[in-house]
Amino acid sequence: MIFGRIKPLDAILATAEKKSLHRSLGAFQLTMLGIGAAIGTGIFVLTAEAAQKAGPGMMVSFIIAGTVCAFAALCYAEMAAMVPVSGSAYTYSYAVMGELIAWLVGWALILEYAVAAGAVSVGWSGYVVGLLEHALSIDIPDTLVAGPFDGGVINLPAMLIAGLVTWLLVIGTRESATVNAVLVAIKVSALTLFIVLAGPAMESAQFSPFAPTGFLGIGMAAASIFFAYVGFDAVSTAAEETKNPQRNMPIGLIGSLAICTIFYLLVAAGVIGAPGLSSQPVRDAAGAVLEPGSRELAAQCAARAAEGFKDVVCSKEALAFTLREIGWPQIGNLLGLAAGLALPSVILMMMFGQTRIFFVMSRDGLLPPAFSKIHPKFNTPHVITIITGMAVALFAAFFPVGQLANISNSGTLFAFAAVSIAVMVIRKTDPNRKRPFRTPFIWLTAPIAIAGCIYLFVMLDHKSIILFLIWAVIGLFVYFGYSRRRSHVGLGLIEVHEDDPDTPPQPVPPVN
Ligand code: ALA
Repeated sequence: MIFGRIKPLDAILATAEKKSLHRSLGAFQLTMLGIGAAIGTGIFVLTAEAAQKAGPGMMVSFIIAGTVCAFAALCYAEMAAMVPVSGSAYTYSYAVMGELIAWLVGWALILEYAVAAGAVSVGWSGYVVGLLEHALSIDIPDTLVAGPFDGGVINLPAMLIAGLVTWLLVIGTRESATVNAVLVAIKVSALTLFIVLAGPAMESAQFSPFAPTGFLGIGMAAASIFFAYVGFDAVSTAAEETKNPQRNMPIGLIGSLAICTIFYLLVAAGVIGAPGLSSQPVRDAAGAVLEPGSRELAAQCAARAAEGFKDVVCSKEALAFTLREIGWPQIGNLLGLAAGLALPSVILMMMFGQTRIFFVMSRDGLLPPAFSKIHPKFNTPHVITIITGMAVALFAAFFPVGQLANISNSGTLFAFAAVSIAVMVIRKTDPNRKRPFRTPFIWLTAPIAIAGCIYLFVMLDHKSIILFLIWAVIGLFVYFGYSRRRSHVGLGLIEVHEDDPDTPPQPVPPVN
């Protein structure tokens, strides 16, 4: 095998069998799980970012991003049903394409989860600061609620929420199905209320010009707004706990995606159509579209606001802003409250996902053993949770939401593409393995998913692409400098179940 060091699938599956979680989740709960993880900063905040890139054409961007996710979701569903264990894309890649690719995928997932948690923290900050200002007339200086690239110095509320969620995770908070259902209900009700109020007020003239930046702008907005869907893949990690995964896994994955897409399109239409507002990109004096999250855009927004312009793209709380401007100030505040309550659960899920990935990588020997240390009292991987929390708080304090979302997207797109490749490879290398769910038309579905991921990746801003590449190179240095020599698979140890001291590691011949 070109990449060597495959972690045998049977050993991975033995882990799952030993754990033998109760299969209790049905299609409905899975769909809730997907919606709970997906609805967040993407729709609540990045709608403004997408409008800055594509104007009303962002509606097409939502469809493009949702379609790419749907194809990737079909590939995830096959892998998730076949390899229902922790670690998601990292584990699938380890079993199919070997340690190096798995390492790179795990390394990219750090971007997906930790940086996304930072982005959602910044999104939360925008809504809570808006709520404090409008509902309680508490004015926090701009320098303390935005990072240096965004016209401020430090985003303290974003740091605060990241710290709070870290603490919750250290003491062992995991979102229960009931809490998730309540938070999903809050988010869905808030969006429904928005649609009900903003829908009838829409004016068709607001949709024109529809695509002020052409198809390129629509593609760039799709690459950003892809963030609004990230998290639906959480459904795949619950494969082990799903009743009849052949039927329920695709319903959960595709169902949550479809519901999110419909909501997103209706909300986007409500924002664009709002009378008296503009969802057209803000430009500089020479007519060039300004970069979202830049000092120039912040300055231009301030100047336009002083002249009385109402630009959606300048708002950090686009939906609340829209409602306030169309005559529903109290409901706007209520929506801010809903976002304030519900977004921390998205941060929690993202950070939880991150700690699990680190945990599994550390358990495989690729990261220091301290990363998988468990707290004696709380029974949580506290070391890695605190390290992750500090990184998330740092991202949240200093970087603009859109930049963080784009960087996170780069990692997620890489992982989605890797899973889409893995699902084809394993069809060839292990055709007879039991597949509770089979990706329909795989030789069409998987290549479309891969092409879609590549398209969205190249549509990201240059900074994010370069950062992704630098991150990957650092990852390779860490791998060849540290991880490769310590890999348990490389040392000939396959740990069937680390959490279970009764199961000794299984020796296998070392592979190099
Ligand atoms: N999809 C999640 C959000 O938009 C990450 O916040």
